[in-house]
Amino acid sequence: MLQACYFLCKEEIKEMNKLLSTQIIHFPKILDERGNLSVLEQWKQIPFEIKRVYWIYDVPGGEMRGGHAYKTLNEVIVAISGSYDVVLNDGSKEYRYQLNRSYYGLYVPKMMWRHIENFSTNSLALIVADQLYNEQEYIRDFSAFVQLMQQA
Ligand code: TYD
Repeated sequence: MLQACYFLCKEEIKEMNKLLSTQIIHFPKILDERGNLSVLEQWKQIPFEIKRVYWIYDVPGGEMRGGHAYKTLNEVIVAISGSYDVVLNDGSKEYRYQLNRSYYGLYVPKMMWRHIENFSTNSLALIVADQLYNEQEYIRDFSAFVQLMQQA
């Protein structure tokens, strides 16, 4: 009985931690009749030092990007234009976020399996990361990822 309770509590705590660390960030909106402006800065809206920015564009209809986790890298994903879904999996549960505003960012912490799908026409995904590109950072095998999360 005590064993079962301990297991449940541990699982609940793990889930709460994931939800707390994955979050929507609101960027400032400077409204102007000439057109609006939003901004992100490291250590302000972005909770880390920005080491790399890349973007995904010209995604053909029905395609998906991602399909991996990072061992230690944290990132913020912004729908600069259009919309798409960021689908996260912490090894036991899936979370779906539709991004469709250029003044929202999704903070995705390390060790979160993620893929991006349902790209609208002409959508533009901007990804801000706290590390330079390093293939060694990737976990590209979902079952290996789940195994690692179960050991954690
Ligand atoms: P990848 O991160 O696997 O794309 P996604 O997860 O969005 O589908 O990257 C695809 C290719 O692009 C990969 O072979 C390496 C290259 N790449 C870089 O050279 N630098 C980068 O910063 C990124 C993100 C990818």
